[in-house]
Amino acid sequence: MSTTPSPRRVALVTGASRGIGRAIAKALVRDGLFVVANYVANEAAAQQTLAELGEANAALAKFDVADEAAVDAAVKAIGEQHGRLDVVVNNAAVAVDGLLLRVKTADWHKVLETNLSSAFYLSRAASRLLLKAKESGRIINLTSVVGEMGNAGQVSYVAAKAGLIGLTRTLARELASRGITVNAVSPGFIETDMTQQHVQGEARQKLVAQIPLGRIGAPEDVAEAVSFLASPRASYITGQVLRVNGGLLIG
Ligand SMILES: NC(=O)c1ccc[n+]([C@@H]2O[C@H](COP(=O)([O-])OP(=O)(O)OC[C@H]3O[C@@H](n4cnc5c(N)ncnc54)[C@H](OP(=O)(O)O)[C@@H]3O)[C@@H](O)[C@H]2O)c1
Repeated sequence: MSTTPSPRRVALVTGASRGIGRAIAKALVRDGLFVVANYVANEAAAQQTLAELGEANAALAKFDVADEAAVDAAVKAIGEQHGRLDVVVNNAAVAVDGLLLRVKTADWHKVLETNLSSAFYLSRAASRLLLKAKESGRIINLTSVVGEMGNAGQVSYVAAKAGLIGLTRTLARELASRGITVNAVSPGFIETDMTQQHVQGEARQKLVAQIPLGRIGAPEDVAEAVSFLASPRASYITGQVLRVNGGLLIG
């Protein structure tokens, strides 16, 4: 039995319980979309996100983005409940830092699965619904300035983020004939739980000194770039990496 499609565009934002993902979910709801907000563990944060979005505008979906079967099931449920999926934002990620010799193989796989394979699983699972969305269809992947520059002590995270850029460019080419755009957003340093230890005290001052705009970014700075790429205003932009980094990397 086919579901009557929701009148509103529907977005799935992974890792929307906190940080940048929550800000993206809020921006997309502001823009008029219904948002399915994914998370994996933090119930309290997820409930807070839902409260901020409003139950009429959003629903929570708890699943591990690194679990292929769970991703397939989550997308199937969206198809059944909403009859459409227009925007996929691959935002969920983890960082397990350490210099090369200390990196455990299990951590390498965890980071690659969570930060890169997840975007492959979700893009593939969502492709049937995105094809139905046609020109409304968007995939937006959260990469990172370090994925473009490299960063000592983050080999798995950087490899995954660099891989996401390749995935973005390839899917942009594959899906362009159907009007679906695929882009990446590349934040610099943004104040969230992920960057807690880097943005305190002296480390913060050193960091800020490297950023031409003279401040650490806010999750909302990144969310506005995603909002734009998800909108009809960006319908002629595909395969691009939009940097939101205060000028930390230019050129
Ligand atoms: N913060 C920065 O400076 C910065 C810079 C460049 C790029 N980025 C990228 O921007 C994105 C968001 O970063 P952030 O700083 O907002 O991160 P964050 O504050 O650490 O939040 C991570 C989010 O991902 C979710 N998550 C983690 N593992 C998951 C899994 N296996 N399945 C589903 N959800 C999972 C978390 O859910 P729970 O709450 O349930 O744990 C949480 O919602 C990431 O892709 C990150 O790499 C961030």
